[in-house]
Amino acid sequence: MTQQRSGRTEPHSLETALVRWEARFSVGEYLFGERPNAYLASKGGLLAKGSRALSLADGEGRNSVWLAEQGLRVDAFDFSPTAVAKAERLALSRGVRVGFNVCETFAWNWAPSAYDLVAAIFIQFASPAVRERLFPLIKQTLKPGGLLILQGYRTEQLQYGTGGPPERDHLYTEALIRELLQDMDILELRCYDEPVDEGKGHSGMSALMGVVARKR
Ligand SMILES: C[S@@+](CC[C@H](N)C(=O)[O-])C[C@H]1O[C@@H](n2cnc3c(N)ncnc32)[C@H](O)[C@@H]1O
Repeated sequence: MTQQRSGRTEPHSLETALVRWEARFSVGEYLFGERPNAYLASKGGLLAKGSRALSLADGEGRNSVWLAEQGLRVDAFDFSPTAVAKAERLALSRGVRVGFNVCETFAWNWAPSAYDLVAAIFIQFASPAVRERLFPLIKQTLKPGGLLILQGYRTEQLQYGTGGPPERDHLYTEALIRELLQDMDILELRCYDEPVDEGKGHSGMSALMGVVARKR
């Protein structure tokens, strides 16, 4: 595990968020379970063995470990040291290797055209201002033809209260995502409601969006 904490903005709110996530992850169990996100797992047919993947804000590793099990070469980062330590244990127990990093989003090295796949699963810590900076970086680090797989909650999730942030502007609408990804080819944008069973953190009927988009 490598540690990178520089290059941050809004240090005070970031520290507060980190303290909160550390507390959430400081339980023995895996808050979001050990199985991959169901939407990501449903896209297994799109993944090419040996290709390079980045799992951003990867949490306790369920998605990065699963990607590595599919034969991809995977890097992952999250700003929570506790989550990344759990992710490392998960990878060890499954016998796969992932390049794990403790790193804040804007301290990550978003190397141009580095990855065939970026997995952005429940990254709704991102405010509108953070999204404006983050999505160009995701596109930058994808290779031409590379895929973004995104899963998140829609604004309708506020009625369910079964996971995700309480801030409406952190949640997705179709119009918002189409705007953010207007310079990519959207291969799928699915809005659907279904029960989620992904640890205590995400449990119950949920308003979801699943997206696959390709860099031109
Ligand atoms: C809802 S969890 C999802 C984790 C993982 N993607 C999954 O699906 O299991 C959101 C994650 O974002 C991470 N996070 C929040 N703010 C972050 C930031 N500024 N930089 C990096 N990671 C952050 C948290 O530590 C947490 O692991």
